Amino acid sequence: MNVVLESSVGGAEAVAEEASLAALLRCCVREVAGPRGQVWPADPYLLLRLAGSLLRVPTSGGLALRFDGPAERLEGGSWRPLSLDTLVGLVETELTGHDLAEGEPGGGVLARTAPGGRNEEFAGQVAGSRAAISAMLRERAGTAPPEDPWLASEQALVFGHPFHPSPKARGGSGWLRYAPEAHAAFPLRLLAVRDDLLAAEGDTGAIDGLGDAPAGYTLLPAHPWQLELLKAELAAPLADGRLADLGYGPGLAVPTSSVRTVYEPRIGKCLKFSVDVRITNCVRKNAWYELAAAVELSGRLEPVFADLAARFPATRWLPEPGYRSASLGTRLLEGLGVIVRSSPWEVTGPGVTPLLAGALAAPGGTVPADGMPGAAGPVDGVRAAAMEAFAREPLRWWGAYVELVAPPVLDAYFRHGVVLEPHLQNVLVGVDAEGMPAEAVFRDLEGTKLVAGRHDLASLPDPVSRSTTYDATRGWNRVVYCLMVNHLPEIAATVAGSAAPHARDELLRELWADARARVAAYAGGSGRPMPLSDLLAGMPLPAKANLTTRWSRSADRDAGYVPVANPFAGAAGAPA
Ligand SMILES: Nc1ncnc2c1ncn2[C@@H]1O[C@H](COP(=O)(O)OP(=O)(O)OP(=O)(O)O)[C@@H](O)[C@H]1O
Ligand SMILES: [Mg+2]
Repeated sequence: MNVVLESSVGGAEAVAEEASLAALLRCCVREVAGPRGQVWPADPYLLLRLAGSLLRVPTSGGLALRFDGPAERLEGGSWRPLSLDTLVGLVETELTGHDLAEGEPGGGVLARTAPGGRNEEFAGQVAGSRAAISAMLRERAGTAPPEDPWLASEQALVFGHPFHPSPKARGGSGWLRYAPEAHAAFPLRLLAVRDDLLAAEGDTGAIDGLGDAPAGYTLLPAHPWQLELLKAELAAPLADGRLADLGYGPGLAVPTSSVRTVYEPRIGKCLKFSVDVRITNCVRKNAWYELAAAVELSGRLEPVFADLAARFPATRWLPEPGYRSASLGTRLLEGLGVIVRSSPWEVTGPGVTPLLAGALAAPGGTVPADGMPGAAGPVDGVRAAAMEAFAREPLRWWGAYVELVAPPVLDAYFRHGVVLEPHLQNVLVGVDAEGMPAEAVFRDLEGTKLVAGRHDLASLPDPVSRSTTYDATRGWNRVVYCLMVNHLPEIAATVAGSAAPHARDELLRELWADARARVAAYAGGSGRPMPLSDLLAGMPLPAKANLTTRWSRSADRDAGYVPVANPFAGAAGAPA
């Protein structure tokens, strides 16, 4: 978007308004107006009808829906700027399923297809997310990004998920001091759990490098935000010695893009905590069976990734070999549960810098790569090198990128019955000194699943095996959504966006033809599995419906999907 950032408060608010409006409008196109046949291309605009109102916005970037100028609404015969509050009102009207007046544009059609039901929280969540972005931008402007370019990329997702109605909504208060978007860094709180109450599985030895526990106790680091949230529940075990509070740790931990996973430089590990607040779609709690599942999956995935790396040598992953917590009832077992995860620096090769894929893809057009001006630092060096590389040689850069990410994900599914969750926040791309993609790092075992029937899970407790399994269809839909809707279109739009405006559409077509050829080559060498043939033939793709999921207050695991156009349809080589 053509946003010129100012460091003033007003500048931050204007940027937050524009980014929030864009995120909600993308959801409206994808989930509401699109499926109802109420979206029309009118180059350079996309026109849509919502609750009887006609809206338009200049758009490029294919499936990623990048907006090249302000969104407008037709009012009294002329186009006027559309505000976020107005759009929220239209969404409420549309989704509440009110009866449009006879003869009102869209009357009847919309009323028939709206899901109905009210949601009094929705407007507050959208406004809360906008306020959070503006607070993040203001705080960020006065702080320096981490010197570590990987961590700086983790802290670069200021606008969050591009297809979410409230991408930065945060539950609770006081979150700004823990916010990666505000370049936070803070000491962890060190608890110790009496040894007879220690709950742990796997290899957690790295944690002991954080400090010394008293005799008869084991160290248990805690996220300070979570300790505030659990204050009441912790009072008794702290008072009677089941837990000990050793105070703040000496160094600073750095939060990554998921907020609740931090990097601890003193031990060179990531620690994934529970934080009992809703961050975008879910309350971020490590359920007891997810703690166990992370360790179980780490063991089972070792040979899988060894095989993937043998076939695709640039494939890396971040094991989660152990967790610790305290056996003090389910609430505290889960609330204090911490998973140890390898750091990307442990797995990337010499001369390769891991960068969060989402930070490379972040829409925002002229918004500087780091969200606010004046935030130069080593990250800009590495990320800028990648951006220069794709601007210079877009097809070579994109080809290398797709080759790193797509075949291992497909092979994990088809050869090993493993569903990775390669959305933009779960994949790191290792770039070399020239800014070229050199390695792909896959992480986050919570969303990683085993395809039912392909693995012997008989030895696992029921909730653990349920939490680690998808049936084949659900697993495939998840793979296709993450890879082909959430991830690659955003990278493609960013790469194409580096070309001159008149050349972007053509470049985007070339990028998809190239990606299709690479996926087809993988399919050819793997017995052309049926779902992959459908994908290559251009079958519509499942896109996760974040707006309607939030509107209906559904759990994220029950989120619906809507069909969207497959960028392989019409790409060279696809059947006409
Ligand atoms: N394109 C994107 N796709 C998915 N999530 C995104 C995207 N951009 C930003 N995000 C944000 O990243 C987070 C992803 O959540 P996810 O459930 O993968 O992480 P987690 O399990 O809490 O932690 P971790 O990734 O460290 O394991 C959410 O806060 C989400 O809003
Ligand atoms: Mg994640």
